[in-house]
Amino acid sequence: MRLDKFLCKSTELTRAAATECIELGTVSVNDQVITEARFQVHENNSVVWKGERLVARPSRYIMLHKPLNTLSSNVDGDYPSLFHCIDIDRAEDLHIVGRLDADTSGLVLLTDDGRWSFEIIRPEKQCPKTYRVTLRDPIDDNVAVKFLAGVQLQNESQLTAPAQLNIVTKTEVLLTITEGRYHQVKRMFAAVGNRVNGLHREQIGSLKLDVELGLWRYLTPKEVADFL
Ligand code: URA
Repeated sequence: MRLDKFLCKSTELTRAAATECIELGTVSVNDQVITEARFQVHENNSVVWKGERLVARPSRYIMLHKPLNTLSSNVDGDYPSLFHCIDIDRAEDLHIVGRLDADTSGLVLLTDDGRWSFEIIRPEKQCPKTYRVTLRDPIDDNVAVKFLAGVQLQNESQLTAPAQLNIVTKTEVLLTITEGRYHQVKRMFAAVGNRVNGLHREQIGSLKLDVELGLWRYLTPKEVADFL
């Protein structure tokens, strides 16, 4: 992890203050003064600041049931940020792993572990995400086959990757996709002439949403490890 990040995770310093301390030469790693914020430190390195060896706080991994009309962003905009739901110290150190649109509810993961979130969102991983979709029009019988073959989204050169469609009722379906393109689910249904009226993410990988609307919980070590 970067030295400035390590300082943030082991003290009450903000990122900017941590960078300043490092650049002023007040931080040493394995007895050597380091003045570059991006210097990489490893778990067993001895990082000393103000004469004290620092120990990083453990990373946090959270599932949140995102309400409708909240933003997947750290700041408020047209709607309040979903961070209003996370009432813990230093919530601002967390980042969102795979955003949802303001008008989409459901499972959102948050963490302060950049390597873990990258493991989930990197395209080669093809991490499946399952959405419960409410449609404007009754679903055509051939849509499951089309989604399995891949559809052409507007302004994109590549077909979508194979996606699994399970029909619940004529206007309610479960769609599992392994990509994370912009507004992907809405655009996939637009590509087959339908429209999404309601969207809710139920599952990421093997992790199913199991907290009530607006609430959150920490993931268990096994749930964290399952993504790696
Ligand atoms: N696809 C969408 O269209 N919106 C989301 O929020 C997530 C996936």
